[in-house]
Amino acid sequence: MPGQNFQIAIDGPVAAGKGTISRLVADQLGFLYVDTGAMYRVATLLAVRAGTNLENEPAIVKLIRLSNIQMRNPSHSEKDGRLTTVFLDGEDISWDIRTESISSKVSIVAALPKVREVLVKKQQIIAGTQNVVMEGRDITYRVLPDADLKIYLTGSDIVRAKRRHLQALQRGEFVSYDDVFEQLKIRDKNDTERVNDPLQIVDDAWVIDTSDLKIPQVVRLIVDKVRVMMDR
Ligand code: CDP
Repeated sequence: MPGQNFQIAIDGPVAAGKGTISRLVADQLGFLYVDTGAMYRVATLLAVRAGTNLENEPAIVKLIRLSNIQMRNPSHSEKDGRLTTVFLDGEDISWDIRTESISSKVSIVAALPKVREVLVKKQQIIAGTQNVVMEGRDITYRVLPDADLKIYLTGSDIVRAKRRHLQALQRGEFVSYDDVFEQLKIRDKNDTERVNDPLQIVDDAWVIDTSDLKIPQVVRLIVDKVRVMMDR
């Protein structure tokens, strides 16, 4: 094992199930769950609220540096379907960062190298001292290149778009399936084709296609594997 703590790094495209699966794996193993996408979403929300151009890198980096961003497990009273509670300067923005409006802009902000630099550092600090399940787009090769277990979660475009559409409807956001599908394709393209740290499958990743698997099945596969690795 590279470090004293056990690190599970998960990457994958939009709505591959990373959040739900990571949260359940973390709960079963007693690990910390870290949703790095939430950090890029907060950066996007900061830019939108400040009326900053989404490509204005110095301004967005400054906004991040001046903000107090806190992430933690949802408390009992916050259990409303969220996977993580996110505070921005004391305000609970856990749902504000999940709107389709933020989703459609986040990959523009996430392509800015200095924004990535600042957020990756924060993520590495969090993962340095405790057992983590950390998920995102660059975790397996940039944030935690020495992770004990690297996973690439994926699924067919249609299955992923259906999941994301259902999630939007459940929160009362009435977007069409076609719009969700189109946005998903655009975001996947932006994330895989960007110059800085694009989404990719590393050689030592365990690739799991979740299209035909139920969430508990995927969770079981991962938890069983980690238990075997930890017993060694
Ligand atoms: O919608 P989904 O839950 O699949 O995405 P997310 O994990 O919330 O991430 C939102 C966006 O943040 C991604 O589409 C990427 O553009 C960006 N991101 C990134 O660039 N690197 C990460 N480690 C995590 C997210």
